[in-house]
Amino acid sequence: MISTAHVGSNLNAVDKLMSNGQNHLHVQDKYVFPPGERPDMSQVCHSYTFPVIDLKDLDGPHRVKVVNEIKRACEEGGFFQIINHGVPETVMKSMMDIAKEFFEMPVEDRVCLYSEDPLQVVRVSTSFNVNKDIFFNWRDSLRHPCHPVEEFINSWPQKSALYREIAGKYAKEIRVLVLKLLAAISEALGQDSDYLNENFGKPSLVLSINYYPACPNLDLTFGVAPHSDPRGITFLMQGDVSGLQELKDGKWVAVEPIPNAFVVNLGDQLQVISNGRFKSSEHRAITNKTTARISIPSFYGPSFDTFIAPAASMVDEEHPALYRGYKFEEYMRAFFSQGLKSKSILDHYKIEISP
Ligand code: OGA
Ligand code: NI
Repeated sequence: MISTAHVGSNLNAVDKLMSNGQNHLHVQDKYVFPPGERPDMSQVCHSYTFPVIDLKDLDGPHRVKVVNEIKRACEEGGFFQIINHGVPETVMKSMMDIAKEFFEMPVEDRVCLYSEDPLQVVRVSTSFNVNKDIFFNWRDSLRHPCHPVEEFINSWPQKSALYREIAGKYAKEIRVLVLKLLAAISEALGQDSDYLNENFGKPSLVLSINYYPACPNLDLTFGVAPHSDPRGITFLMQGDVSGLQELKDGKWVAVEPIPNAFVVNLGDQLQVISNGRFKSSEHRAITNKTTARISIPSFYGPSFDTFIAPAASMVDEEHPALYRGYKFEEYMRAFFSQGLKSKSILDHYKIEISP
């Protein structure tokens, strides 16, 4: 049974949320990152283009070609965008509209879901993990499990009025897309199409909405500080306001929104399962001076009790196991036990290989 946080225990939650109409007016000290850790816009690259993969031919005679494009992108940085992915434009647009409505309605209608417990599955929160964050991220977010829809829909926000209906439709489309990509990535790993789907056990699919209010000084803070996503794979709808940046060869690269595309970020579990062949992408989001930005990531990952380790087919004499195995729950607890710190959790599971 899923419980939601109670306002009674969070009397000052309204004051804490970024989306309360006040907090975004000036940059309070807790949002100011130290000089060496700020976005440094002068160093951001605007001329590199990440792969845009057309999924139109995935289910046809050219499947191998598309799978190979996906494979290359997974190897080169675990980041790409997809078009002709099958999720109808109308479903994407309705989801973006309802997300906006959710964060633009009075804060009192949102705060009932506020929680500071990162393991609370349905919650509105602020920053990343306020119990651990040294510097705060300039965002609020909503997140909740969304597959199967019928199991979780009654725990979702009741306001805005159409939220459940619209997010339910969106979640079902995302589930289809997840399975499509998982099959292709399994093949890219040299496995049967079902490999990842079967290995992830009863999967978890978490729908999230990030709300980044306009920020008077985007040089000082982050919408979300550098990190890799801890689960398996993330499908992000980024709307039309830019802000996402991906690390490529040590340089931050701006990812300009492509209408109706999904951004795909590989998460840490795929880096481990592929024994380091595929990379989880390192990314961050900067704020925008004039416009609030909304992004809608769907995080897909294994169930908490799944044992994660490099796939046997990825390990041989030439490619010794780079990571020790663990229960996924252990990984997530470690992830939430600290603030956002790049890929440091992955390092914790690395096996030292003597030269
Ligand atoms: C995230 C994330 C990026 C963005 O929520 O994990 O990386 O563009 N978001 O909002
Ligand atoms: Ni992320």
